[in-house]
Amino acid sequence: MIKVAPSILSADFGSLGAEVKRIEEAGADWVHVDVMDGEFVPNITVGPCVIKSLRPYSRLPFDVHLMIAKPERYIEVFAGAGADLVTVHYEATGDLRGTLHRIRSLGKKAGVSINPGTHFSKVEPFLGDVDLLLIMTVNPGFGGQAFMSECLPKITQARKFIEDGRLPVELEVDGGINAKTGRMAAEAGASVLAAGSSIFGASDMRREIALWKSF
Ligand code: DX5
Ligand code: ZN
Repeated sequence: MIKVAPSILSADFGSLGAEVKRIEEAGADWVHVDVMDGEFVPNITVGPCVIKSLRPYSRLPFDVHLMIAKPERYIEVFAGAGADLVTVHYEATGDLRGTLHRIRSLGKKAGVSINPGTHFSKVEPFLGDVDLLLIMTVNPGFGGQAFMSECLPKITQARKFIEDGRLPVELEVDGGINAKTGRMAAEAGASVLAAGSSIFGASDMRREIALWKSF
């Protein structure tokens, strides 16, 4: 079954605790938290203190997507704040392997993410050291962008690599996911769908999440 990870980037930031509760009540699997630093991406969102404050509002795993430069500087603080999965960008660090190891040494699940312009082969050597591969289907920075269908072959390629190697790696797709593109991503091999605007914009969040799980 497909897992659904609503991104609180599209939530009401004035009531984030209630929004996280609402996601859980609607049947979500994970809470996707988009952390942006204004350097790796041209936008700034939330940091560890917000994650810490949100932690008591849900028992769901917090899927923390770090879109920050040199994420190795902040692994301990995000782990300590209550992240369950910590995902860093391939493009953001000069020490990807060390960073992934540090995440796991803190008892957290480690993820690596690639931008639309980054070829899958770049992260192949790291897939034995991760619990999650996050394929971006928009250039990270903002919610509400259009899904880049040219990334679909990369999802297929990653799924094949994971299956061939029997790797225990979740394949998450993030950016421009809606009912139509989510189905396409799932058919290409995604196991987790992260989405902001289409989940928070749905007239019935529970029904939308249930539909996606069936893809
Ligand atoms: C992109 C972020 C997202 C994304 C989701 O920078 O990583 O998780 O904004 O938002 P939608 O679903 O609106 O594309
Ligand atoms: Zn994200």
